[in-house]
Amino acid sequence: MSHRKQALMRAVGSATLSWTEVRKFIPWNGDEPLKPIKAVIQVNRILGTKDPNLFGQFIEHFDDQIYGGVYNPDSPLSDESGLRMDVTEAIAALNPPVVRWPGGCFVSAYHWEDGVGPERQPSFDKAWRVEDPNTFGTDEFIALCRRIGAEPYICTNAGTGTPEEMSNWVEYCNLRSEGKYARKRIANGHVEPFKVKYWSIGNENYLPGEIGAKTPLEWGVFVRESAKMMNRVDPTIEVLAASVPDLEWNRHLLQEAGSYLDWISIHGYWDERWQNNDLSSYETCMAYSLEIENRIVTTKHMLGAFGYLGKIRIAFDEWNLRGWHHPHVDSATEDYLTPRKLNNRNDSYTMADAVFNACFLNQCLKHCDAVGMANFAPTVNTRGAIYAHENGIVLRSTYFVFQLYGKLLGDRVVDSWLDGNEDFGSVDRKGQAIRVPALDVAATVSSEDESLRLAVVNRHPDKAVPLDLTALGMPGDAASAVLHSIVAPGKDAYNDVHCPDDIRVMERELDLSESGPLAIDIPPHSVHVLVLTPRRS
Ligand code: AHR
Repeated sequence: MSHRKQALMRAVGSATLSWTEVRKFIPWNGDEPLKPIKAVIQVNRILGTKDPNLFGQFIEHFDDQIYGGVYNPDSPLSDESGLRMDVTEAIAALNPPVVRWPGGCFVSAYHWEDGVGPERQPSFDKAWRVEDPNTFGTDEFIALCRRIGAEPYICTNAGTGTPEEMSNWVEYCNLRSEGKYARKRIANGHVEPFKVKYWSIGNENYLPGEIGAKTPLEWGVFVRESAKMMNRVDPTIEVLAASVPDLEWNRHLLQEAGSYLDWISIHGYWDERWQNNDLSSYETCMAYSLEIENRIVTTKHMLGAFGYLGKIRIAFDEWNLRGWHHPHVDSATEDYLTPRKLNNRNDSYTMADAVFNACFLNQCLKHCDAVGMANFAPTVNTRGAIYAHENGIVLRSTYFVFQLYGKLLGDRVVDSWLDGNEDFGSVDRKGQAIRVPALDVAATVSSEDESLRLAVVNRHPDKAVPLDLTALGMPGDAASAVLHSIVAPGKDAYNDVHCPDDIRVMERELDLSESGPLAIDIPPHSVHVLVLTPRRS
C-alpha cells in the first residue's frame, strides 16, 4: 500500500472504506503531507468550564428566517401551530441551549405588544422596510423554544423603546398574574409564566445606522434605568446589554450600569457583505479566523479595567463568518428586497464556513473563563446553518460543526498547545500578508468518564497534516480512539437540494496498536472531534 494510501487510511481510520469511497470524500491533490505537528494536551491544567450556551442560536425577523423559515402556517410541512416540523426537528437535533430573538436591527423599532393577543395588526418594520404581519410574536417564540428545547433569550427595543416598555415585556413573560401584562398573557391562553431567563437591552445602538442610536453617555444611563426596572419586575433574570470593543462605550456602560449587568454582548461578522455579495475566498476566510480572538481579549481587558472580569461575562450573541447581504436599505430608487435572496445561495456555504465556525468556537472554548454564550447568526435561512425551502431543508456545512461540538465536547476545557504548526502560506488581508497556520485545536475533558475530547481543525486548503498527539495526565492508557469528522470532497464543496450529502459527518475507530503518540493524518479543509477514552483502572 503506498505511503499516501497508508496515510489516508490512517486519516479515515480502519480499512472499512474502499479506496474509491475514501477518495470520494477526501481528494488528496496535495503532494506529500506537511511535516508532523505535535499536539500536547495537559488534561490537568483546567482553563475553565464550558458553558453549553456557547452553542447558542439567533433568529431575526429578517427576510425568510421567521416567515418562511421556522414559521409557515400555510405549508403542508407545518403543524397546527404553524411551525415547520422538519425545520424545528433539525434545530432540535442540535440541542440548542439558547435562542436569541427577535433581532438584530429589527428589534430597535419593534413594539412587542403588536405581536401578542388574538387580534394581530401588521406593522411596518422600519429596520428592514417591510411589513411584518405580527403573527409570530412572543407566544409563538416561546412555543418554538419549547419545541426545540432551548432557553428563550429576548432582545428588547432600546432604539424607539423605553425602560418601561422593556420591563412591561418582562411582566408579560415572567410575572404569575400580577398586573395587566401578566393578566394579558393568561388571557392569551398561557396561565403559567414563560420564565424567560435572558433579556438583552438593545442591539447595536452604538452604530449610527441603528434606529435609536445612542452616545456612550446616553447608553450608560439608559441601560442603568432599563436594567433597574427589569430587575424590579423579576430579580432572577440575567440582563445583557449591547457592547462593542470600544473603551469609551464600555467606560460609560460599566460605570453607569455595570452593577445591574450579568453579561455584555458583542457581535462579529468577518466577511462583511452588507453591500456587495462577492464572498471572500477560502484562503482569505482562513485569515479571518486569526482575527476572532482579538475581539474577545479586548473585551476581557475592558471588563478587567473596570473591575467586572469574573462578574460580567461575554455573550458573543451574534456571529457568523459571513455578514448578511442587504444592500440599498436606505435607497429611494434601488431594489432593496431582491438582493436579500442572494443570502440563500447554498453554494456559498462551503468548508470555509465550517472551518471558520470551528475556529470561532475553539476560541470561545479557550476563553471560557469569560465567554459564556455565543449565538450563531442566524439559524435558518439567510446565512444560517439550515436552509428551509418549500419542499424540505438543506443542512449547510456549518450545521455539522454544531452537531459535532454540541454533542461530543466535554465540560472541562483544558490546556493544549501545538509544536511546529506549519503555515500554509500568506494570504492578502487588506494589503497585509498574513501567515496562516494549518492546525487549530481546543481540548476538553468529560467529567463523566474522563475521556479527552479534542477539537481539531485543519485550515489547509489541500494538504493533510500529520498530527502526533500526546495527552499528559490521562488517568490511564487509551482504551479507544474514535475520530468524528466533517468531510467534504473539496474546500469549496457545499450541500444543496440536488446534493444534500456532499458534506457529511463520518466516524471511524483509530488504530491504537502502535505505541507512542497517537498519529493521525488530518485531511485538508476539515473539522474533527477526537474522543480518546481511557481504560478504566
Ligand atoms: O445584517 C444583519 C444585522 O447584523 C443584524 O440585524 C444586526 O444585529 C447586525 O448588525
